[in-house]
Amino acid sequence: MSENTAQLTYQGNTYDLPVVKGSEDELGVDISKLRATSGLITLDVGFKNTGSTTSEVTFLDGEKGILRYRGYSIEDLCEHSTFSEVAYLLINGELPTAQEFEQFKVDISRHTLVHENVRKIFDGFPADAHPMGVLSSLVTSLTAFHPESLDPNRDPKMVDLTIHRLIAKLPTLASWVYKKSIGHPLMYPENKLGYIENFMKMMFGLPVEDYEIDPILVDALDKLLILHADHEQNCSAATVRVVGSSQASLYVAIAAGINALWGPLHGGANQAVIEMLEDIHASGGNVDKFIEKAKDPEDPFRLMGFGHRVYKNFDPRAKIIKKHADAVLDKLGINDPLLEIAKGLEEKALNDEYFKARKLYPNVDFYSGIIYKAMGFPTEMFTVLFALGRLPGWIAQWKESRNLNQPISRPRQIYTGEVARPYPTK
Ligand code: CMC
Repeated sequence: MSENTAQLTYQGNTYDLPVVKGSEDELGVDISKLRATSGLITLDVGFKNTGSTTSEVTFLDGEKGILRYRGYSIEDLCEHSTFSEVAYLLINGELPTAQEFEQFKVDISRHTLVHENVRKIFDGFPADAHPMGVLSSLVTSLTAFHPESLDPNRDPKMVDLTIHRLIAKLPTLASWVYKKSIGHPLMYPENKLGYIENFMKMMFGLPVEDYEIDPILVDALDKLLILHADHEQNCSAATVRVVGSSQASLYVAIAAGINALWGPLHGGANQAVIEMLEDIHASGGNVDKFIEKAKDPEDPFRLMGFGHRVYKNFDPRAKIIKKHADAVLDKLGINDPLLEIAKGLEEKALNDEYFKARKLYPNVDFYSGIIYKAMGFPTEMFTVLFALGRLPGWIAQWKESRNLNQPISRPRQIYTGEVARPYPTK
């Protein structure tokens, strides 16, 4: 990293501020000493222009539509890797050798069972609870069953164990939530199956019959999880790093990430897409009316699954997933009116001046929701699938922050409330 200097002049004094350059020539002004030298802090609500860390995990360029994990393009990873390999890459920094990968798979598969007493906690949740709340609670509860995780500075082998347990147990917990919602018996994992196959079987299999694994669906889900695996300092990754900075257990940092992901402006958008399509269908299927609503500055309605904070050209993930959406829909021979509405909406919006001028393209959530629905996942599980995919990214971000021994995250503020005033006495 090479350094240069920027200058800030305030009330006749000039302050030198180092300019930090990243490996892709990104530049950032380092203001960490600004308050000590000038008394000033910087103000950036929503951190729209604030780099919270340097990072070696993920690079993205929103203008050019580039996304790379550890230097490898998302296109190459989707073509040549599996989700499990990508998880290893994100967490360890390099793709695994054949031997390392075999060991990783063994390390994960031996931890797929969840302590039977976690089931007792789980039993207390109502069947119609939102899966994300249940999932984050169960992940937090794992601290009680694996207390050696409470000190993240302990033996690095313990940290690895927690990482393996998280990757192994999240699919099991996710499937429990779904099974309970439909009144089916919970399925136990089958360790000889691959990561995605095992999850699909726990989700859609039944103890009374064989479950037939469909390679097209497994491949589509594998790709979807790769596409969601990391996205640098987004809301949930930043949350994981912030919670981790207090040196809390990795389990609770991940549980916090799950909660951050839940909101409709982040991971919840894929659910919002299907709900919007259902609304359009219920109101007669008139796409034009909804496009006009989205364009009306007086109307808060937005086309869900369109636009992105960072990608202002196209979302490279959406391009890849669109291909898989077609393959899955063809394979399943799905005849769903919502999918027809989605296609019509996409075509109209892409040719509409309002959307073109604002560079609003379908994002990954537009297509992922459609595929998940076609595969039989209920809408409330969509964000859970996002969490499954994002888990290795959260772990990689947490691990990097801990390895850099980053200080506790503690932003400052500009106070705008009442100044000191006398307490009213009678
Ligand atoms: N429909 C209609 N108009 C939109 C939309 C939309 N989906 N998104 C942005 N705009 C308009 C917005 O009204 C504004 O117009 P004007 O300049 O006339 O005021 C302009 O485009 C810029 O919008 P912005 O809110 O400043 O853009 P942003 O970068 O702050 O917001 C966003 C990004 C993703 C929050 C927003 O595009 C949005 O709300 N999209 C719908 C929700 C969604 O699909 N979210 C998933 C994001 S991808 C998943 C992830 O990575 O977490």
